[in-house]
Amino acid sequence: MYQGKEGQYAKIIGTGGYLPEKILTNADIEKIVDTNDEWIVERTGIKQRHIAGENESTCDMAEHAARQALEMAQCQPEDIDLIILATTTPDRIYPSTACLLQERLGCIGAPAFDVQAVCSGFVYALTIAEKFIKTGSAKRALVVGAETYSRILDWKDRGTCVLFGDGAGAVVLEASAEPGIFSTHLHADGRHKDILTVGGQVNQGEIVGSGFTVMNGTEVFKFAVTQLSKVVKEALAENNMQADEIDWFIPHQANMRIISATAKKLHFPMEKVVTTVSEHGNTSAASVPLALNIAVRDGRVKKGQTLLLEAIGGGFTWGAVLLKF
Ligand SMILES: CC(C)(COP(=O)(O)OP(=O)(O)OC[C@H]1O[C@@H](n2cnc3c(N)ncnc32)[C@H](O)[C@@H]1OP(=O)(O)O)[C@@H](O)C(=O)NCCC(=O)NCCS
Repeated sequence: MYQGKEGQYAKIIGTGGYLPEKILTNADIEKIVDTNDEWIVERTGIKQRHIAGENESTCDMAEHAARQALEMAQCQPEDIDLIILATTTPDRIYPSTACLLQERLGCIGAPAFDVQAVCSGFVYALTIAEKFIKTGSAKRALVVGAETYSRILDWKDRGTCVLFGDGAGAVVLEASAEPGIFSTHLHADGRHKDILTVGGQVNQGEIVGSGFTVMNGTEVFKFAVTQLSKVVKEALAENNMQADEIDWFIPHQANMRIISATAKKLHFPMEKVVTTVSEHGNTSAASVPLALNIAVRDGRVKKGQTLLLEAIGGGFTWGAVLLKF
């Protein structure tokens, strides 16, 4: 394993994203369950979501996003010495989707593993990669969030199926003397395991219990707004920063109402908040890197700007990362 200098910053040098071709609009969902566009838009802000093709896997989407990020970073796959992939919907129980991706990309030998923290997965994975780089254990890391979330949705449950979508986002991190990630903040509280869960398990070749997402939406909503505000304040305080010193707030794209309630509590004007939820729905671990990639590629996020990323998901897990892009 690479042993470089300790104390280096982990700097994002490339971003990538991928959304499947198929789009499911609210009007399409009206034909599947008893719902309507007005209800979905008013409660969630979501207008459409992308759905993976029948033969399209989490690894397929991760590969597209990863290759785009590598291209922007002007890196070859063999330059990567760590792969961390966040997903709730791996291609297989094992090997990890990170190993499947490593084979596709050809960075053989680099450690590769998955992280399971549901919608906080990318923030968890980014945090872990940053620690590898900071301790000199990795020089260039590929961090991916990828989900075929549509496969763990009960398409008869209108309370959940309208909310989620599929996609992948990726970043390449490099050890740098210049900042870089300033600080990372992770939390979990397993007492809330039942308010958002896929409770089943594989036993003797069968799924025992439910293979579908089950959610108490009201409880999730309240918990999300409270904890996200707290963790963002924690990140700002750690860096002696005020909200107005953040150029872009890039929150987990679960729901427009959660995003705007959190932004309001923290005094971030909505013009400084990157939102993709109306077009993507909640893509779980892919949501933050996808939003980041879109804002980088459309020119909103520029080199040298200060970004605050946050996410929350099943577990419950949540976290924030404050960085200079
Ligand atoms: C899911 C969510 C949008 C529901 O909004 P809400 O205002 O709490 O709505 P409720 O769950 O109280 O349901 C209100 C009514 O709408 C109905 N309803 C639920 N889903 C519906 C849908 N898709 N279309 C139409 N009606 C729907 C309910 O059955 C209920 O009807 P009733 O009053 O006759 O029982 C909201 O709770 C939420 O955003 N929660 C967070 C979800 C989330 O972000 N999860 C991922 C976190 S990582």
